[in-house]
Amino acid sequence: MPVATPKKVKKDSNIRVDAQRKVSGKAKFIEDVEYKNILHGATIRSPVTHGRIRGFKNRDEIKNMPGVKAVITADEIPGDNIVPFVKEDYPCLAEKEVKFYGQAVALVAAETPEEAKAAAETAELIIDEYPGIYDSIESMTPDAVYVGGDDNVHSYFKIRKGNIDEGFKGADVIVERVYNSGHQVHCYLENQGMIAEPIQNGAISVKGSMQCPFYVHNALVKVLGFKYSKVRVVQADTGGGFGGKEDMPSIVAAHAALLANKTGMPVSLIYDREEDFHTMSKRHPSRTRIKYGATTEGKLVACEAEYIVNGGAFCTLSPIVAWRGIIHITGPYEIENIKADSYAMATNTVPCGAFRGFGQPQVNFANEILIDELAEKLNMDPVELRKKNLLKPGSKTATNQVVGSSCGMAETLDKTLDKIKFKEHKGNDKGPVKKGMGISTVFYGVGLGAEGKYFAKAGAQVHIKEDGTVFVAIGNVEMGQGAETVFNRICADTLGCSYDMVEILEPDTTRVPDSGPTVASRATLVGGNAVKDAALKVRDSLFKAAAQKMGVKPFDIKIKDGKYISDEGEIDYVDVVDLAYLSRERVAAQGWYKVENVSFDEKTGLGDAYPVYSYSTNACEVEVDTETGVVKVNRLVAAHDVGKTIHPPSAEGQIQGGAAQAIGYALYENLVLEEGKIVNPSLSGYTIPTTMDLCDVEPILVESAYDEGPFGAKGLGEPPMVGPAAAILNAIHDATGIWFRKIPCLPEDIVKELNKDINKEPKELK
Ligand code: MTE
Ligand code: MOS
Repeated sequence: MPVATPKKVKKDSNIRVDAQRKVSGKAKFIEDVEYKNILHGATIRSPVTHGRIRGFKNRDEIKNMPGVKAVITADEIPGDNIVPFVKEDYPCLAEKEVKFYGQAVALVAAETPEEAKAAAETAELIIDEYPGIYDSIESMTPDAVYVGGDDNVHSYFKIRKGNIDEGFKGADVIVERVYNSGHQVHCYLENQGMIAEPIQNGAISVKGSMQCPFYVHNALVKVLGFKYSKVRVVQADTGGGFGGKEDMPSIVAAHAALLANKTGMPVSLIYDREEDFHTMSKRHPSRTRIKYGATTEGKLVACEAEYIVNGGAFCTLSPIVAWRGIIHITGPYEIENIKADSYAMATNTVPCGAFRGFGQPQVNFANEILIDELAEKLNMDPVELRKKNLLKPGSKTATNQVVGSSCGMAETLDKTLDKIKFKEHKGNDKGPVKKGMGISTVFYGVGLGAEGKYFAKAGAQVHIKEDGTVFVAIGNVEMGQGAETVFNRICADTLGCSYDMVEILEPDTTRVPDSGPTVASRATLVGGNAVKDAALKVRDSLFKAAAQKMGVKPFDIKIKDGKYISDEGEIDYVDVVDLAYLSRERVAAQGWYKVENVSFDEKTGLGDAYPVYSYSTNACEVEVDTETGVVKVNRLVAAHDVGKTIHPPSAEGQIQGGAAQAIGYALYENLVLEEGKIVNPSLSGYTIPTTMDLCDVEPILVESAYDEGPFGAKGLGEPPMVGPAAAILNAIHDATGIWFRKIPCLPEDIVKELNKDINKEPKELK
């Protein structure tokens, strides 16, 4: 009888560690988690964008509806009625005033989701409606209705570098333009959802879809009034976050936990798409006024900018978004004289928050079109103009930070140009379909930087079991971007074991210390370094055990191909583990990493804003149908300096996915608000590109190692989303000769602009 040879898992197998469970349908997203006896929550929401709450007309009626077990209003919150973000302005449940359509006012729990929904829909709130304000520029006017913050300003930052007047005096050419961008919706496949459950000793455990278990933990402590040790937060498999699950899950979790605490039963609170659209965060709409001054030779000498974002009704993460925006406002160029201001304004619209790039796609779209506009004015090739000004090691950024040796900016540009074969297309096309090419360059501060210094830390635990398999407990999450695989590779490569021996455990706040949020492309650098630190500590035990056996010193040992090697011989990793167990060496260790040396002076806006920067270049070819206005991106080449690629397929996937999101941002995604209310809250009303609309994105990975990074890695999660929009609009200009300064740039915008002169009376008839 033939004996099947067991299949060996190849050490260099490129398969992601989460692939199997996700493609087989075995992954348990929060809606898949089953409980025998569980209640279902629903939220009673404001039907107006601004108003005073007078009362709850039919609370008793609702309480007596079929299946209803609890109704909760703000007065019953045991702790503080605040979900803490950067500021403490967002009430868990509105008590006196509602500030945006869909704001949560009360909660219901019932035996079935249908009963909970019916109860919430039956609720009648008595609200006196106030006038609302929906636009950030209007919100700045002195007689604007007060919404929040300091005179409607959620946050303000500035940069003052050099002498702006002298700078512009030295300029031969000056261009100034205004660019506008709209809301963008995350459109994660899985909506927001949480299950809260009372557990032993009066504690509450919450599991759900999230990016930041520690934020959720903080929020529950605040709202429930519990000690930290009476709350447990566990991340379930998460079907995409893109920033939308940074802060918002704290609200969903707090609501679920309030219901569980009141009923003493597990409660599931899962949003449908429409509810998610109306109430969860969005990318901030923006208005960027930017002015560059340059010499005739193309040296940028001055930049003045004003960046205004619509933060919505509550502050949430607006300061972080406005800060990242202003730090990157000049683009990846060295400019001596800078004056920049950024404002996040309060309006009666859905609060905006984190979305891949955190305020940077907005400014990049502005400064990277402006650089092309400037090149046109200088009669210079836009690539040439960039090359004259791009950041390189030793240059100073807008905040006067000296660029370190890990700077592959120029290499990303060269490699992109080589691949796309960038050349003039203007006027070459016959017929209505015109082709054009465009480019954009990006620098991206990795992590939360000086403004989020408090969060710039991460922990991990590495624990080797008797057979050599390893548990790795982490504080940073997998949400599709590949973090589990990155941590797996970092741990396995440090210990010298095979990838299939390393098990990444789901983040659980009882297992790992506060590791900050999984945002700002920080997981590889910060979480990865924590895993590496822990793995190095247990590896010391393995070195010790192997050294003892071989009669050498621990530092005489090297690891190669799964073996611990010295001049005296070699031992397989698994046998070394055996020896370590026999000699009772430590086989588990905590790892830690914190980011040092970042600074920001609020008065001048100068300082070492981020520990390191990633760099990228995007170039694309588009086709514009001048009759229909439809734009098709034919090719997009994107080169990214990531320091070191930990898992190439995931890295390429990030570049492709980010580009897809950016193509949507540039050409399709149009969230429409009327009087502050979203009128297209669905995936049929809000168009995102399908696979049919997307081109093959061609990724290029550049590795300019960062000494502090694990194996030299920096960060990649967000940068792919930052640059493509400007490259696309520059390509549309190349094709049509028209500068579009608003995204989304829709077919109707293009047709309107191209036909602008058609309706004018011909001059000679006048
Ligand atoms: N990729 C997938 N598939 N799903 C996501 O939710 N989020 C993005 C990016 N890539 C996201 C993603 C955002 S907003 C961030 S900040 C980074 O991943 C976070 O991951 P990292 O820290 O591992 O780079
Ligand atoms: Mo990403 S917006 O930093 O979660």
